[in-house]
Amino acid sequence: MQVEYRVDLRPHHTFGLPVHAAAWVELTDAARLPEILALPEYDPATVLWLGGGSNVLFGGDYAGLVVHLAHKGIAAEARADGRVAVTAQAGEIWHDFVQHTVAQGWYGLENLSLIPGTVGAAPVQNIGAYGVEVGEYIASVYCFDVDTQQFVTLDAAACRFAYRDSLFKQEGRGRYVICAVTFVLDTVFAPRLAYGDVAAVAAEIAAGRAIGAADVAAAVCRIRQSKLPDPKVLGNAGSFFKNPVVDAETAAALLAQHPTLPHYPQADGRVKLAAGWLIDQCGLKGFAVGGAAVHDKQALVLVNRDHASAADVRALAQTVQARVAEGFGVALEPEPVWLAC
Ligand code: EPU
Repeated sequence: MQVEYRVDLRPHHTFGLPVHAAAWVELTDAARLPEILALPEYDPATVLWLGGGSNVLFGGDYAGLVVHLAHKGIAAEARADGRVAVTAQAGEIWHDFVQHTVAQGWYGLENLSLIPGTVGAAPVQNIGAYGVEVGEYIASVYCFDVDTQQFVTLDAAACRFAYRDSLFKQEGRGRYVICAVTFVLDTVFAPRLAYGDVAAVAAEIAAGRAIGAADVAAAVCRIRQSKLPDPKVLGNAGSFFKNPVVDAETAAALLAQHPTLPHYPQADGRVKLAAGWLIDQCGLKGFAVGGAAVHDKQALVLVNRDHASAADVRALAQTVQARVAEGFGVALEPEPVWLAC
């Protein structure tokens, strides 16, 4: 296994910050993962298991070993119930995988088109968009348990999927390295069109035909491209903050004052608020600190506009949080994982 030193991390995370990894190794076969634990550079306290780098923020140079999970492969098995179990290795690129499922006639993931990152990262924050969360389609996650040094299969219940959250972001963080994910997908297409403009854009693309999965995927791509910056062009980590969930009383008070505030009642009685709207109302679209800025088309996204440093991003995020707290009394929690370096 080849270890490289002082590796430029710019191509390996979507925010494109000028940071380096002290040591770097590429994993192209999950079965060889245990060998990493024997490397002199390996320290369980500082190792970073990295996928596409679309949901991490480096606070500076990374002092530990970075392991790039790059192993690929997709296998499918028909199930007795007519659905299909599809297992994808962690290093598969998420969007390419979604396109592959749609082309094969395996349905469920089309609303999650164009989300940056890898298959292995998808369960960590339970990626979600346009009314679908990936956890709804995950049957199990195959992991390496660093504590017991065994490969284990965790079923969906054990993964504890919640809004932008899972076991892997909580107490399982640092313990379970995701090696592969098994999805159970439909073979009969049932479009999920309830969110925002998806139904209208998909109908426009279908142009009179019955809406198919490829139309929904194309609609989601079109909507995302209209507001979300392409990380290859403008560094970013997608939504920078989670949409805050507040109690019913707080939501009622805010809505009395701001009737147009987009809000989504939750099953437990609490209410999710659109953080992008709150930031936008503070007049922060385009607001910059150094080279980091609030995206001018979607205020929930912070971008690397011009050679931003990690410090610029941190200062910008703090300003946004302070302004929203002042204006609305709502605390915003960052969505990506901040890595103290
Ligand atoms: N809004 C504004 N101004 C803005 C941004 C949003 O007024 O600058 C309003 C919109 O008009 C809309 C509402 O806020 O009424 C919600 O906006 P949008 O539909 O764009 O979705 P979001 O809540 O901002 C969430 C996810 C996105 C996901 C979209 C679509 C989170 C943290 N973000 O964003 O996920 O693509 O819904 O489902 O839940 C990501 O996680 O990286 C991500 C991009």
